[in-house]
Amino acid sequence: MDEIRITGGIPLDGEIAVQGSKNAALPLMAAAVLNKGVTVLLGCPRISDVFAMEEVLKSLGARTRWEQDTLILDTGQIHRVDVKRELGEKMRSSIVLLGSLLGRFGEAVLPYPGGCVIGERPVDLHLMALKQLGVRFYEEDGMLCAKAEKFAGGAICFPKPSVGATQNAVLGAVCAPGKTVIRGCSREPEVLWLCRFLNMAGGRIQGIGTDCLEIEGAAELHDIVMEIPPDRIAAGTYVCASAVTRGRGVLRKAPVSEMGALLHVYKKMGGQYTFNSGKLSLCSCGVKYPVRGLRTQVYPGFPTDLQSVLLAVLSTVKGESRIEETIFEDRFKVVPELRKMGADISVCRSTAWIRGGMLEGAKVCARELRGGAALVVAGLAAKGETCVENRHFIERGYEDICRDLSLLGACIRKD
Ligand code: EPZ
Repeated sequence: MDEIRITGGIPLDGEIAVQGSKNAALPLMAAAVLNKGVTVLLGCPRISDVFAMEEVLKSLGARTRWEQDTLILDTGQIHRVDVKRELGEKMRSSIVLLGSLLGRFGEAVLPYPGGCVIGERPVDLHLMALKQLGVRFYEEDGMLCAKAEKFAGGAICFPKPSVGATQNAVLGAVCAPGKTVIRGCSREPEVLWLCRFLNMAGGRIQGIGTDCLEIEGAAELHDIVMEIPPDRIAAGTYVCASAVTRGRGVLRKAPVSEMGALLHVYKKMGGQYTFNSGKLSLCSCGVKYPVRGLRTQVYPGFPTDLQSVLLAVLSTVKGESRIEETIFEDRFKVVPELRKMGADISVCRSTAWIRGGMLEGAKVCARELRGGAALVVAGLAAKGETCVENRHFIERGYEDICRDLSLLGACIRKD
C-alpha cells in the first residue's frame, strides 16, 4: 500500500538526527557532471528524488554506487547529453542539469519540466540566463534543446529571484570561458552550498551569500568529497510536529543558522528552544498564540516549503491566524484535505485565514510533497486515526518520516 497511518494526540518527546538536504543534494549531483572524475557526497538523503536524479545520471553514462549514506558519482564516462523524457518528467529538478551539461559538453536535450500541483513552474528565467552565455534554445519533438554555439561568460540580471535559475546560471558560468556577473541571484542556502561545492572543486566564484555573483570560468573541475548539509525544511517540519502536539523533542544536526524565520514564528506561537553542541531542543507546551500576519518570502524570509506544514499547526491554535503565500500561485492545495480533518481555513487569492480548533482523524490524500507532510503533521494532533494516502509524494523529500516521527514518540506507521 501507499499510505501512512497516524494515531494522534500524543505529545512528542524523543531525539532524531536531521537528514541531508534534498534541495542541496539535487544541484550538487548535477554539478558533479562538470567534473570528469569522481565526486563523493557524504550524508546524502536516500529519497526518491535523489534516486531519480541518480537514474538520470546513469542514463547519461555515469557510474554510481552507495556506501550507507554516501553516494559516489563517477561522471568521467558520461557520453550523452539527452535526458530521456520518461526520466526527466519523473522529477522536475532535472532541469538543473541544463547548466552542467552545457558547461561540460556545450549542448543538452531535456524534457520541459512542466507545471505541478503548486504552480505553473515556468523556466523562462533559466533560459534567459543561459542565453546571456551564448546558448541557443530550440524545440524538437517537444523536447527542450540547447546548444552553446559560442559559450562565453556574460552579464546576467534576474528580474526576480529564482533558486533553480540561479543554480543553472552558476553551473553554466563556472566553466564558460571568461567572466560572468550574475545580479539578482537567489540567496537560499542551497545556492550557497552549490557555490561552495564548485569552489572546492576548482571553481572561482565570488560574492557567495550575496545577490551578486562574479564567476571566472574555470577550465576543469576536479574530484571532491562533500558533506550534504542537513535539510532545513525537514528540520522545520519536525519543529512543527513538536509544536502541533505541544510536546518536546531534540533535533541533532538541525541547521539552526538557516532556520531563523521558522524559529521566529515558533517562538511567536509560544514555543521555546535552546541550541547547543549541535542539538536543537524544543519545548512546545506553551504553543497557543495565533500568528496574525505572516508572508512567505525568499530567503531569509519564511520559506514557502513550510507554509502548508505551518497551516496544520495553526489549525490547532485558538484564535485567527493569517498566512500570505507570495512565491507559488497555487500552494494552498492542501486546504481541502485539512478541512476533512475539521480545520477551519478560508482562502482568498494568495491569503489563508486559519481559525484554530480541534482536529479529527480522517482519510486524506497527499497531492504533493510538502502538502503531504502537512497532513501527517495534522494527523499527529488529530483525535483518533488519520490515514494519509499517496505516501510516495512524501518520500520524494523525507527519507523516512515514519521512522523519524516514531523516534520522536509518535504513533505512526506505513501501510
Ligand atoms: C526551489 O524550486 C525548490 N526546489 C522548491 O522546493 C522551493 O519551493 C523553491 O525553490 C522556492 O524556494 C528545489 O530546490 C529542488 P524558484 P525552484 O525558481 O527553483 C517562478 C520542495 O518542496 N519562476 O525559486 O523551482 C516560479 O514559478 C520544492 O522542496 C519563474 O517565473 O523555485 C515561482 O513562482 C518545491 N520563472 C518563483 O519563481 C522561472 O524560470 C520561485 O521559483 C523559474 C521560476
